[in-house]
Amino acid sequence: MSTLTRSSSTFLVLAIFMSFVSAERSAASPLPVKGAYYPSWFNHTFPASAIDTSLFTHIFYTFLSPSNEIYRFEVSASTAALLSNFTSSLSRKTPRVKTLISIGGGEAGPSLYAQMASSAATREALIDSSIWVARRIGFDGLDLDWEFPENPAQTDDFSKLLAES
Ligand SMILES: *[C@@H]1O[C@H](CO)[C@@H](O)[C@H](O)[C@H]1NC(C)=O
Ligand SMILES: *[C@@H]1O[C@H](CO)[C@@H](O)[C@H](O)[C@H]1NC(C)=O
Repeated sequence: MSTLTRSSSTFLVLAIFMSFVSAERSAASPLPVKGAYYPSWFNHTFPASAIDTSLFTHIFYTFLSPSNEIYRFEVSASTAALLSNFTSSLSRKTPRVKTLISIGGGEAGPSLYAQMASSAATREALIDSSIWVARRIGFDGLDLDWEFPENPAQTDDFSKLLAES
């Protein structure tokens, strides 16, 4: 996940054309992951329905950020329409492709995650709201794109967030 995350910040524009094959194979997940980030700001020039889904196993919608006060998502009608179009277009083209919401990203700034991850109550707010949005719109999973934890305490908070998610 961290490889994908780091790549996204550096090569975001190229991301939809690139695939990342995970080097690690285990008995539990024998197939390689071929992931790509779809930048939501391409919605006019390159709609999600234009993605060649046959190339990928996982496609990440970038980015969705929670409110910086209550750490829940406040999804506008236009964003909800885009999210729904993303999941329904991709699953219609290639039902096996997994769709994920990538939360945060470079533009969200490091303090959003740092604040949210610093207490159990705000971590829970983000997790609950993420799952609610993902289920409601038909996503298969979540990608926590914190760019980046800046000290050992924040790394520890990130571990807690992952463990509780
Ligand atoms: C759709 O794309 C436009 C133009 O890039 C952008 O301003 C807008 O924020 C995008 N919508 C969403 C929901 O990302
Ligand atoms: C998604 O949006 C595209 C382009 O705007 C449109 O052609 C397509 O029909 C939409 N797909 C769904 C499933 O709503």
